[in-house]
Amino acid sequence: MTPLVRTLAGIAGGWLATKLFGLSEALQSAHGDTGAKRLSSRRSFTRNATLGDVGIVVAQIGVAFGVLLWPNKTGAFGTAITVPGGDVPDVNGEPFKWAPGKFYLVNLEDSGVRALYWKCVHLGCTVPWISGEHEFICPCHGSIYEYNGDRVSGPAPYGLDQMPVTVNDDGSVTVDTNPSSLLVNNY
Ligand code: FES
Repeated sequence: MTPLVRTLAGIAGGWLATKLFGLSEALQSAHGDTGAKRLSSRRSFTRNATLGDVGIVVAQIGVAFGVLLWPNKTGAFGTAITVPGGDVPDVNGEPFKWAPGKFYLVNLEDSGVRALYWKCVHLGCTVPWISGEHEFICPCHGSIYEYNGDRVSGPAPYGLDQMPVTVNDDGSVTVDTNPSSLLVNNY
């Protein structure tokens, strides 16, 4: 908002406030001196116009802060996240963990890159990758998943859910972390 528009808006707001809040005053002093009433009216107008202008400036500052502080969701769970080619694991290599997106990227010899949602399909615990075992082992009730996310044992009824992936021309991989896009792993 330009200063001119803001000033005009402040004056308009002041005029409106004067009309609204001065109504009862006018009614109460119906028998008072006319000159004094005019002076009082001018003062009220100036005061309210100033207050209106200040109010608009404060509102603008509030909006600006709100925009600045609004969380930037890019790269977070629920959005499409692109993992640079350099972070994509080698075939059967250590899974790449991307915490904001809640997934592991694994690279399979037969089917290529796969994104595994790290939430245990039993009761929802976060499942860590255990390097020494070369498996995902849930700490809550002991469900075990293979490198490719398939179920090995435990109370989990099936394997880790998968997220759709797109392998880009530059070698990077884009993962769709929207929960509604999850692919159920029946193995
Ligand atoms: S929540 Fe993972 S085994 Fe129960």
